[in-house]
Amino acid sequence: MGNYSANGRADIWNNPVGDNSREFYGFVGQELNQCRMVVPLYSLSIFRDQTLLSYRHSFHAGNFADVVKHVVLVEMLDHLTQKEKPFEYIDTHSGAGLYNLQSNDALRLQEHANGIGQLNVNDFPELERYFEVIQSLNPPNALGVYPGSPAIAQYFLRPQDRAWLFELHPQDYELLRKHMVNRKRIKVRCENGFEGLNALLPPSSRRGLVLVDPSYEIKSDYDRVIEHVVGGYKKFSSGIYAIWYPVVDRHKIDAMETKLLKSDIKNIQRFELGIAEDSAERGMTASGIIVINPPWTLFDKMSDLLPKLARQLTKGDELYFKCDVLSAE
Ligand SMILES: C[S@@+](CC[C@H](N)C(=O)[O-])C[C@H]1O[C@@H](n2cnc3c(N)ncnc32)[C@H](O)[C@@H]1O
Repeated sequence: MGNYSANGRADIWNNPVGDNSREFYGFVGQELNQCRMVVPLYSLSIFRDQTLLSYRHSFHAGNFADVVKHVVLVEMLDHLTQKEKPFEYIDTHSGAGLYNLQSNDALRLQEHANGIGQLNVNDFPELERYFEVIQSLNPPNALGVYPGSPAIAQYFLRPQDRAWLFELHPQDYELLRKHMVNRKRIKVRCENGFEGLNALLPPSSRRGLVLVDPSYEIKSDYDRVIEHVVGGYKKFSSGIYAIWYPVVDRHKIDAMETKLLKSDIKNIQRFELGIAEDSAERGMTASGIIVINPPWTLFDKMSDLLPKLARQLTKGDELYFKCDVLSAE
C-alpha cells in the first residue's frame, strides 16, 4: 500500500476538551429529538442514557488515539485467531463501526491527518495486518474510509466466532447495524455496554476479548470502566480486557490505574502514546490502552512500535510514550 494522503492538520489539540468539547459534537437537545424519531424506546434506562450523549466518533476517526487502540486490537484479534477454538468479541462502546473520512464530520477537524494519514505500510511493515484491514475497505493507495473497532473485529471473525456490539447513540447504532453484515455472527445492541458486558460474562466459548472504549463524556465513566472490568474479571478471569483512555487530565488516569491495581487482577500492561506534554489547557495530549491478560507477543511488539510511532506523530522533538507492565503475571 502506498502513502495515504490526507490534507490539513488536526486542530483539536489546541482546543481544550476537558469538558469534552460539546461545541464540536452537537447539542443535547438535538440528540433528544433524534432519539425520539429514530430509535424505538427499548427501555427507560436507555432513553435516560441517550439524553446525555453528544459525542460522535466520526469527528475523530483515524486520529493518533485510534491508531494505537486499533493496532493493539488487531494484535489481540490476530492472536485469538491463531487457534481454531472459537472466541467471543465484546465491544461495550462500539461507535458507528466504519467512518467516511470525506464526511463533513471528519473534514471538520481532520484528525486523521495526524493519525492514519501520517502512516504507510512501507515505513511500518510490522503493521501489515492493520493496513490489511484498512486496505480491504479502500481502493488501492486511497484512504476514503477508516474502520472502527467493530469493522476491525468483523474482518477477523471466523464462522465459529461471535461478536456483541453495544452502542447507545441512536444514529451511530443505526449506522453500526448497517455496517455489520453478518447478523448471525454479530449481534448489535442499542443498550448500555456496561450492563451488556455483565450479562454476557463468562462467554460460552470461554475465550473472549472485551474492548471498553467510552468517550468519557460522562465523567463517572472513569470509575465505571474500572468497576465493570473488575466485576467482569471476577466472572471471567481468563478473558482479555482492553480499556482505552484519553489523557485530558492525568490525575483521572492515575486514579483509574490505582483503582485497577487495588483489585487482585494480575498481568496488566499499558501502552500509551502522546503527541504533546500533559497539559491542563490543551485537551487530549495522549491516549492509551490498558490490557489485562495480553497476548504474550504484545509487549515486545509495542515496545518497538511506540517510539517509532511517536517519532512519526509527535510535533516537537520530545517523544511521549509509555510501555509498561502495571502488574506482572
Ligand atoms: C470512543 S467511541 C467508540 C469508538 C469505537 N470503539 C472504535 O474504536 O471505533 C464511544 C462510543 O460509545 C457510545 N456510548 C457512550 N456511552 C455508552 C454506553 N454506556 N453504552 C454503549 N455505548 C455508549 C458513544 O455513543 C460512542 O459512539
